[in-house]
Amino acid sequence: MASAARTLSRAALRSSASSLSSSSSPLQTSTLRAAARFAIAQQTCRHQSRRGYADNASSGNGPSGGSSSKLPWLIGIALAAGGAGYAYTTMTLPDDVKEQAKEPFKPTFEDYQKVYDAIAKRLEEESDYDDGSYGPILLRLGWHASGTYDASTQTGGSNGATMRFAPESDHGANAGLSTARAFLQPIHAHFPWLTHSDLWTLAAVCAIQEMQGPKIPWRPGRADRDVAFCTPDGRLPDARKEQSHLRAIFGRMGFEHDREIVALSGAHALGRCHVDRSGFEGPWTFSPTVLTNEYFKLLLGETWRWRKWDGARQYEGVGGSRGLMMLPTDMALVKDKGFRRYVEVYAADNEAFFRDFADVVMRLFELGVPFGTGEEARMRFRSSFD
Ligand code: HEM
Repeated sequence: MASAARTLSRAALRSSASSLSSSSSPLQTSTLRAAARFAIAQQTCRHQSRRGYADNASSGNGPSGGSSSKLPWLIGIALAAGGAGYAYTTMTLPDDVKEQAKEPFKPTFEDYQKVYDAIAKRLEEESDYDDGSYGPILLRLGWHASGTYDASTQTGGSNGATMRFAPESDHGANAGLSTARAFLQPIHAHFPWLTHSDLWTLAAVCAIQEMQGPKIPWRPGRADRDVAFCTPDGRLPDARKEQSHLRAIFGRMGFEHDREIVALSGAHALGRCHVDRSGFEGPWTFSPTVLTNEYFKLLLGETWRWRKWDGARQYEGVGGSRGLMMLPTDMALVKDKGFRRYVEVYAADNEAFFRDFADVVMRLFELGVPFGTGEEARMRFRSSFD
């Protein structure tokens, strides 16, 4: 019985300690602290009783001397300790806290801000990747999770995080995104109350803000779904194609205005193409870890020609933009008059780009999510440099 009690105490201590070390709400924390204190109190009693027993045994002056006759003492001490612990817990926790402790954990803005801060910290620490940041690939993960939305059937979108499963994880467009999912795994382990689908879009928001982009309002409410909800291949844009394809793909998501498509494409100021992932190669700008309107300026102001190589058909910069690249879909934005209007607006005005980008990315990440909340639930996270 003593060993069973010890095992229980240890388990209580272990789980209290591990729960305390992971992120908890103030309410959870105080409840857990009380539980930990209770377990410690029990253990102290147990140690004292054991010490008393050993001392008595060595002196031979115990109340009885035989182990079986000590059982009532041990039971008495255990009951007293349990009773004291119960009284302690019920006496020290205020009624409203005890009431709330019965309810499921309801994260507040500050809980989500903690998740944001943890991702931002990891982005800062893990600077050995690619051009010095996992930011671009986190944004691509959030976009590819959301961009599968089909407005007519109301399927796909960021609700579900179905890219965790094959076949969606194996779709050609998602090549390389396991890197982003793996980057977020320790964050999810630390905040297990958050769904993967909320985490992916929150991480993309964090990536944009930490790469000096605008604030992206975000709200929680996505649920993880199983493999049955994986979307069919072919819902994301194909970079080898041109304007009619872009309008069809983004139109299917519900983005029917050229302005929205051009603003979203401005994300290609960030990151790069990898031959082993998409078949394309190189970055779009000279500052692939800082969001600016540079992509639009380069599209308009530089000379681009087809690259002569064995790889996928892409454009390469000439002169001042040597070393940079553009996809056929990027060049479609300057070839097509409807799109070009907005490329000109954004190339001339970074503020206009940031304003429209923030609005359309916010809506992209909300596609198909059955929020139980209104727009007032949207949060604006503090960036690490605010
Ligand atoms: C307009 C249609 C689009 C096409 C055809 C397209 C295509 C691509 C391709 C081929 C890559 C290279 C992947 C690799 O080799 O690693 C890429 C990367 C990227 N895309 Fe897009 N994309 C589109 C729209 C978007 C949108 C709307 C966003 C975000 C709002 C976005 C964000 C990114 C980012 C940040 C990267 C860099 C990822 C990295 O550095 O690992 N893209 N895109």
